[in-house]
Amino acid sequence: MKNIFWLLLFFCSVALAQPNGELLASQCFQCHGFNGHSKGEIDSIAGESASDLYGDLKEFQNNGKNDIMSKQSRLYTDEELKAIAIYFSTVR
Ligand code: HEC
Repeated sequence: MKNIFWLLLFFCSVALAQPNGELLASQCFQCHGFNGHSKGEIDSIAGESASDLYGDLKEFQNNGKNDIMSKQSRLYTDEELKAIAIYFSTVR
C-alpha cells in the first residue's frame, strides 16, 4: 500500500514539473549566441519581451515553411516555447 502512495506522488510531480527554460534555450545559443547575445549576423534575442518572442516562435511554428526557425520551433511544445521566451526575456 505504501508503494502505491509513492508511485502516485512520483507521477504527480512529473505531471506538475515545469519545462526548464534555460536548458531548452541553450539549443538556441548555437545560432543566437550564448544567452541570446549574438556575435554574428543572426539577431540577438536576449532581453526581448517574452510575449514578442513567444509570438515570433508561434508564427515560425505555423507559417508552413521549412526554413531554420520554422523547423526549430516545431520541435517544442507550447509550454516549452513559453519557458524559452520567458528565459530570454530575463537575460540582460
Ligand atoms: C540553426 C540556427 C538557429 C537556431 C538553432 C535557432 N535559430 Fe532563431 N533564427 C535563426 C535565423 C537564421 C533567423 C532569421 C530567420 C528569419 O528571419 O526568417 C532566426 C530568427 C529568430 C527570431 C526572430 C528574430 C528576432 O530578432 O526576433 C527569433 C525570435 C528566434 N530566431 C528565436 C530562436 C529561439 C528561441 C531558438 C531556440 C529554440 C532559436 N531561435 C534557434 C537561426 C537559428
